Amino acid sequence: MLFKNLYIENAAEAMDIRVTDGKFEKIAANLEALPGEEVVDCGGKLALPPVIESHVHLDTCLTAGRPRWNMSGTLFEGIQCWEEYKPFLTKQEVKDRVNKAIRMQASNGIQHVRTHVDINDPKLTAMEALLELRDEVKDFMDIQIVAFPQYGILSYPKGKELLEDALKMGADAAGAIPHFEFTREYSVESLNICFELAQKYNKLIDVHCDEIDDEASRGLETVATRAYETGMRDMVTASHTTAMHSYNNAYVIRLMRILKMSGMNFVANPCVNVHLGGRADTYPKRRSMTRVKELTAEGINVSFGYDDIFDPWNPLGNGNMRDPVFMGLYAGHMLGYDEICNSYKFVTTNAARTLHLGDAYGIKEGNAANFVVFDAKNWYDALNYDVSVLYSYRNGKLVAETKPKETTVHY
Ligand code: FE2
Repeated sequence: MLFKNLYIENAAEAMDIRVTDGKFEKIAANLEALPGEEVVDCGGKLALPPVIESHVHLDTCLTAGRPRWNMSGTLFEGIQCWEEYKPFLTKQEVKDRVNKAIRMQASNGIQHVRTHVDINDPKLTAMEALLELRDEVKDFMDIQIVAFPQYGILSYPKGKELLEDALKMGADAAGAIPHFEFTREYSVESLNICFELAQKYNKLIDVHCDEIDDEASRGLETVATRAYETGMRDMVTASHTTAMHSYNNAYVIRLMRILKMSGMNFVANPCVNVHLGGRADTYPKRRSMTRVKELTAEGINVSFGYDDIFDPWNPLGNGNMRDPVFMGLYAGHMLGYDEICNSYKFVTTNAARTLHLGDAYGIKEGNAANFVVFDAKNWYDALNYDVSVLYSYRNGKLVAETKPKETTVHY
């Protein structure tokens, strides 16, 4: 199968792509069709490797307004709404919602998702549902599951045991939430447990780290130090790190050294961080996104997530990763021309590093033929005009397609 006339990532020249047996066989300009070969003319559109959602809570998605709306919009009322919803959770109910959300994601070119799943539930209902779904949807979506202790490892009854159970059941990564533990001592000890269990079961780590406007919340330095000392390095991710927005600069200069040494990844969730952050402020109100620009400048890997899709913590959202990129560029003062052009990496190549996908990810000869085609010539236009993903291919098979939007202005 031959795909003609595609601009791959930021390439200046259009390329053709030959796919054989589900793999990229040849990528070059002006490839001639072989006798009988199927040809798809892509008309000079942008091709990217599959879009990646590197931080979302699928177990809570599509529950906004049920049983009631979060009227204040705060994190804490969100938790209260979720508690009121929990009695309605069954394995099938979770699977039905998540199935819907995954298809919304697929329609936007997503083929890899890292989801956090609340394990502070003695029955681990949502974890069971997600583990089953991970297998059921694997032909069109890779789901990576983080065992996420929403209320803490040490500050919730049997939190450590539940984390270990979830890892034994098959979760891909261990989570922690140091800023939510009762004490600073619990915070550090919870991270020690997280690392110990991840190493015991050979899992990745993704910590909800310092998701609070408290500048004294310093779980990050412990996560980075453990990532460095254990050698787990890029198997470790710190999500949110919104307190870093509020740290004093002298501390950040000192902190940056161990962050670089650690080799770990960061995930910012621009829409939800801006929405939930700064809530204890009068004016000025902090925007509460971690220091994406500075981390990126230091060569540290940062990707973007949606975090919440139409749930008690975010009443909006459709899973389209254009939204966090758009918000992230504004909130992070990153609207320089090159920053805009390169911003697709927050939800593609950088996110692939976060998910630890390795060399198997990317549009290159020998890899699985996984790619998406946007209805624009370049990412700048794709982002600016919020264009559709025309095609999403996986192993050379069409996973999703969208007809281009067409509007006529009659004046
Ligand atoms: Fe989160």
